[in-house]
Amino acid sequence: MSEYIVELKNAVKRFPGVVALKNMHLNVKPGEIHGLIGENGAGKSTLIKVLTGVFQPDEGEIYVEGVQQHFKNPNESVAAGIACVYQELNIEKLLSITDNIFINKWIKGKNGLLDYKTMHKKAREVMLSLGQDIDPTRPAGTFGMGVQQMIEIAKAVLINAKMIIMDEPTSSLGEREVEQLMKTCRELRDRGIGIMFVSHKLEELFELCDRVTVMRDGEYIDTRDIGEWDNDSLIKAMVGRSLENQFPKEFGVRSKEPMLKVEHLTEAGVLNDVSFEAYGGEILGFSGLVGAGRTETMRAIFGADKIDGGKIYIKGKEVQINSPKDAIKHGIAFLTEDRKGQGLVLGEPIRTNVILANLKGFSNGLFLDHKKINEAGEKNIKDLNIKAPSLSEKVLQLSGGNQQKVVIGKWINTDADIFIFDESTRGIDVGAKVEVYHIMNRLVKAGKCVIMVSSEMPEILGMSDRVIVMRGGRITGEMDRSTDRFNQEDIMKAAWEV
Ligand SMILES: Nc1ncnc2c1ncn2[C@@H]1O[C@H](COP(=O)(O)OP(=O)(O)OP(=O)(O)O)[C@@H](O)[C@H]1O
Ligand SMILES: [Mg+2]
Repeated sequence: MSEYIVELKNAVKRFPGVVALKNMHLNVKPGEIHGLIGENGAGKSTLIKVLTGVFQPDEGEIYVEGVQQHFKNPNESVAAGIACVYQELNIEKLLSITDNIFINKWIKGKNGLLDYKTMHKKAREVMLSLGQDIDPTRPAGTFGMGVQQMIEIAKAVLINAKMIIMDEPTSSLGEREVEQLMKTCRELRDRGIGIMFVSHKLEELFELCDRVTVMRDGEYIDTRDIGEWDNDSLIKAMVGRSLENQFPKEFGVRSKEPMLKVEHLTEAGVLNDVSFEAYGGEILGFSGLVGAGRTETMRAIFGADKIDGGKIYIKGKEVQINSPKDAIKHGIAFLTEDRKGQGLVLGEPIRTNVILANLKGFSNGLFLDHKKINEAGEKNIKDLNIKAPSLSEKVLQLSGGNQQKVVIGKWINTDADIFIFDESTRGIDVGAKVEVYHIMNRLVKAGKCVIMVSSEMPEILGMSDRVIVMRGGRITGEMDRSTDRFNQEDIMKAAWEV
């Protein structure tokens, strides 16, 4: 027997124009949480797909408990005891939790019919063991992301998985759900299960992992016990150099009049009398817990949701925004973390996607201006460090984080005046985040207005000129960088206290 549950040796995986894995190693012990980190496009998801039989490696070996395996498909990897919770969960929202858990492995009674009594009971037990006291007969879609993710973990537990892989599992969870997930991970570890945990959030790795492996450009860099890593050494191993300043804040000149003014924005049950002003030349941070109404506020301003009342002024003039199209016409760009809802055309190349929000600006009369498009696209690739062989690469083939960068590129290629970044650096590696902050700096220096919705306190404190805090659909605090209330404690108080 090997000391490892799973061992990957000398793995190579080539795609046309890209070597996604070269000489990659990884091993996971029973009862450990093993972090995996690397820049966007480093090959983390590819590595996972090799371990789960979605891809076959071009070279290299996989061992499960010392026995070599050749997974031809995901079923074979599951049969060997490897389960994976993908970032895009495989939940059938209309089906009950029980149905989701037992899909394709139904329990039948002696009469050959589905034995729902037993299945509900087991579903309830396993969810309870994962800290979820819920009714398994209810449709999965009526629960939040935290519970839906636990359904995936429940499936893994029920097939007696020896290793559970989680690809950026915390990126769509709120604070409490993250805590619950971490607790669950530790309990699974204590039951002897090995967990492979992929994340771009260094704090999470330090809090949770026993060992961390770093990869770069498809290659193995280093594996160490968590105590032997620190922030600097992790970043250095990951990006190949030190990052002097994770928050390179620069200052613009604040416009005299507000660029955007919102008055008494109301949406029944969602937004309650939200009023604020945002200026050119500043980054206005929006802080608060998940569900506090920040995204809803931005969606209302962008015309994506109907509001019940309120007024919006741009540069002093009242405007009617009834759709995102109206908002774009009024110079608003809305960058969200939701790649799917962002209108990326996955089957089209980067070149096409980065002009989608500004077709007019990239055409001269009747025809597209290909020279201009190529220049803009090349600049996006350089500024945002997009990992792709060329502008002709289809967005579908980019890694998750690099798709997100294309979304950012698409919006900065517009001549908008107001840029709303809604958690849009989620899923982006630490190095690339700094590039996005440089872009924000450039925007405010050009007199643009930047609104930054963020759940990450260091980012809020590091980059905002002013912070608005929301809770329960209303504004509960406002702190200017020049005052002593601009600190973590005061912001958290405004976000939490009832
Ligand atoms: N099906 C595919 N065809 C072509 N290239 C691909 C394919 N899948 C991945 N790649 C490329 O392989 C490289 C590694 O991608 P991968 O998705 O593994 O990165 P990652 O480390 O998970 O990044 P992220 O942090 O952004 O999720 C990237 O350059 C990506 O464009
Ligand atoms: Mg990935």
